Amino acid sequence: MSKNTAPVITVDGPSGSGKGTVCKRLAEMLQWQLLDSGALYRLVGLASQKHSIAIENVDAITTLAACLDVQFNALKGHEGVSVILEGEDVTRAIRNEEVGALASKVASYPSVRQALLDRQRAFSTDQGLVADGRDMGTVIFPEAPLKVYLTASAEERARRRVLQLQKQGASASFDKILHDIQARDAQDMNRSIAPLKPALDAVIIDSSELDIDTVVARIGQLLRERELV
Ligand code: DC
Repeated sequence: MSKNTAPVITVDGPSGSGKGTVCKRLAEMLQWQLLDSGALYRLVGLASQKHSIAIENVDAITTLAACLDVQFNALKGHEGVSVILEGEDVTRAIRNEEVGALASKVASYPSVRQALLDRQRAFSTDQGLVADGRDMGTVIFPEAPLKVYLTASAEERARRRVLQLQKQGASASFDKILHDIQARDAQDMNRSIAPLKPALDAVIIDSSELDIDTVVARIGQLLRERELV
């Protein structure tokens, strides 16, 4: 549990719901810390690849998670953070689909989740915190005064991912991406530990037909209503 009194807002939801962008915007707007918890699972996945550790080797993967040598460096302006793993800039490398699939797998290991618990809670300092993930409101910060569950239909999330890949000049098949999203959702929602689901007291926002500005404005409104800003 967080020992600090600074407010924490949690934003949980499936990939492609717009969570990452919304959380970045909120953290910038409020000048609060940002916890991108998915990046931690992605880093464990990438580190396992780098050290040629089989993804089924739970003990070795847990040790990796416990000893993860990572730095998050804020970039100048509004460019977010750079992610350094064992001295190497992996900001882009952690975002690919293959690493995402490894992340989803390692995230299903209870011992890996346990190993990352304190590291995540340590992001709550005397500044406010925007916590982005799957279990921020249910497990990591259950006392957060505002919990949001941001979702969107699988089809809309696949469409957004295709557009994002096309912008990066990568080829993208809608059917394959939709299939991958559905498989990832099933893995994240049905695992026995910390499954992806809204906290009982979460505010659910469906972004299928909302743009980022509208979602950010809606959360800003909730923060004001609860006198958190
Ligand atoms: O949000 P993301 O796509 O970067 O997350 C990568 C994977 O990590 C995702 O499949 C689920 C897992 N994850 C998790 O289990 N718990 C979190 N708090 C964040 C991510």
